[in-house]
Amino acid sequence: MKTSCTKLALVTRRLVNEVYSRLDYGTLGPVYCYEGGAEFWRAKRGLCNRLGSLVAVALRRKLRRGGRSLYVGAGVAELPALIMETVELGRTAESYNLRRAEVSALNQACHSIPVTFHAIDAARVKGRFDHLWMVSVLNDPERFPHLSPLSYGRSNPLTLDPLKFEKERRIVRTLVARCMGKLARPGLVTTTTEEVIWIAEWCHRHRVPYLVGKRYYPTALVGDPICFIQIGKRD
Ligand SMILES: C[S@@+](CC[C@H](N)C(=O)[O-])C[C@H]1O[C@@H](n2cnc3c(N)ncnc32)[C@H](O)[C@@H]1O
Repeated sequence: MKTSCTKLALVTRRLVNEVYSRLDYGTLGPVYCYEGGAEFWRAKRGLCNRLGSLVAVALRRKLRRGGRSLYVGAGVAELPALIMETVELGRTAESYNLRRAEVSALNQACHSIPVTFHAIDAARVKGRFDHLWMVSVLNDPERFPHLSPLSYGRSNPLTLDPLKFEKERRIVRTLVARCMGKLARPGLVTTTTEEVIWIAEWCHRHRVPYLVGKRYYPTALVGDPICFIQIGKRD
């Protein structure tokens, strides 16, 4: 397949456009917003496609053909990367997301392509992967309401509940440990700049070398930019 260094292949772009046009934004509205879901998706769907495709192009340079990726918390924003991996690199990209309504909407839109989402805890998945994608999972304010404000420097010392915070930190550390334990070395992690600390902490604890890439890629739905971390590469 002919590819350009700056663009996804034509076949990928067509599939990405097709899937974005087939998505049921009526169902996705309440998944992403308490109110105003329709306006949210009108504003964001094109941006998801555009910015997601830029990350997918950068990711393509970092992955080998035929490997296996674990996507934790993958949703609408991850579609270009998932389609690129499958179509252009012949890789297996497994996607897990605990929001059932989103998983079902994504699977309906992806029925004609080999990309499937599973509403299963990614920590339970078996086998080895050479790429872990975990974007805006460890600082998700819905799942971690006591930890997330600290991650963003918005915590209030008067209202912080240390016991609830500690419980959420344990869950985050366990999820990171279970996912990082499945990563082959050398391997690659795609995450946000806010979540790098959790991966770095795991690497320090396990004496695994890591290198955080200097380039950041903006995302459409959450504010934090994406970066890449090389894991276990000695040079
Ligand atoms: C804030 S959303 C981020 C969605 C998407 N990555 C993005 O950046 O737009 C966090 C997602 O992580 C998922 N998630 C959290 N823990 C998970 C786990 N253990 N396994 C699979 N998905 C998980 C949630 O269900 C949710 O869909």
